[in-house]
Amino acid sequence: MSDSFPAGFLWGAATSAYQVEGAPLAEGAGPSIWHRFSHLPGNTAGGETGDIACDHYHRWREDIELMRRLGLQSYRFSIAWARVLPAGRGGVNPDGLAFYDRLVDGLLEAGIAPNATLYHWDLPTALADRGGWTNPDVRGWFSEYASLMFRTLGDRVAFWATLNEPWVVVDAGYLHGSHAPGHRSTFEAAAAAHNLLCAHGAAVQAFRASAARGRIGIVVNLEPKYPASESAADLAATQRADAYMNRHYLDPLLLGEYPAELPELYGEAWPEHSPAELALIRQPIDFLGINYYKRGVTRHDDSAWPLRASLVPQPQHPHTALGWEWEVYPPGLTRTLLWVRERYGELPLYITENGAAFYDPPAAIAGRVPDPLRVHYLREHLRAAHDAIRLGVDLRGYYAWSLLDNYEWAAGYAVRFGLVHVDRASLARTLKDSAHFYTDVIHSHGRNLFEPTSAI
Ligand code: BGC
Repeated sequence: MSDSFPAGFLWGAATSAYQVEGAPLAEGAGPSIWHRFSHLPGNTAGGETGDIACDHYHRWREDIELMRRLGLQSYRFSIAWARVLPAGRGGVNPDGLAFYDRLVDGLLEAGIAPNATLYHWDLPTALADRGGWTNPDVRGWFSEYASLMFRTLGDRVAFWATLNEPWVVVDAGYLHGSHAPGHRSTFEAAAAAHNLLCAHGAAVQAFRASAARGRIGIVVNLEPKYPASESAADLAATQRADAYMNRHYLDPLLLGEYPAELPELYGEAWPEHSPAELALIRQPIDFLGINYYKRGVTRHDDSAWPLRASLVPQPQHPHTALGWEWEVYPPGLTRTLLWVRERYGELPLYITENGAAFYDPPAAIAGRVPDPLRVHYLREHLRAAHDAIRLGVDLRGYYAWSLLDNYEWAAGYAVRFGLVHVDRASLARTLKDSAHFYTDVIHSHGRNLFEPTSAI
């Protein structure tokens, strides 16, 4: 096994609904918080919205064909809650359900295992107007929606994830306001985090009570924290940052308790919670999805509210088109996978997102989009994942982020993460060099990663 991936290791790519579908209000869909947020002036780069995105809502057949050409064995997508339940609960939109029904059937016909995420940040506005994730009722709303999807697609979906990256929902949506719904409050952030975790638990219970056949887990983004110095202040800041971003979610999910640092960090905003809620959160899951992009070198910083910790630039390493905070650091992936096993024990793991935005040529030239930095990024991160496998981590699959150049939230369309280039004017798709490289990875089951290459 030394130079190859385990038999059955799954190769995939990922997207999310609001980032690729477009047509957010088509055929009876209701508005989501991202629809509302992106349409308010000043919230996104150039005022860009997901109105068109990649027009995947209409081009899904073409996109499945692309996936087939790439050789994908699994496709991770998300379901837009307001497409299937326009008001978030109550009346079902049959056209919305039919879209996902067709998509799943199309994937299966192409031999691609569907991996569906129930929540990738697009809460129906009708629920946001009743407090959204800060309202404990959201636990019931979410599990009703989840049950509807288990009934509709449960006979065919191989993998379910309840939530994508609860930390981003909380940090960007409720603490710093850079994402929808654009709020800034420690009280809202702490309540939203707790309700997200309880809603996850309620949805897992609904899954176990349903006739759905696949496996269920959750997707978290993990960022290993490294101290900027050995000073006591920097070490403590690193612990706080790790508790806030990583252990905040995994400790209750897998150990049944919140990290000790959090009550102090949140102060009077820290919510009361009962043993019954902690038990609800700690439902057994079938797998853990990990999104890995970067590490965080951390220092003490009194001016950084409320964490008193901030990131330190690492000019000795390359960074991505998202700026110095997005350092390219493949060893962080190995370390993250090993840390998860060490802290939380044996659990099937999947890398559910990994990828980078780089300075791709804006248009395809003679049918080609050279993106050598992305090829390098993928190769090095896949090697880092393989290092963890060699050290015994039960890693079962890898999903590149992203299949397509898509709507990068508040950063709009200028930031391109795709293996496949999407022309903004014509929406034409062109496989980038990284897509061809990834196809070789899949066809050789990762063996090409260990062939000698000319370094860039
Ligand atoms: C999210 C994606 C996003 C990607 C790149 C992840 O945090 O799940 O939706 O596009 O990072 O920023």
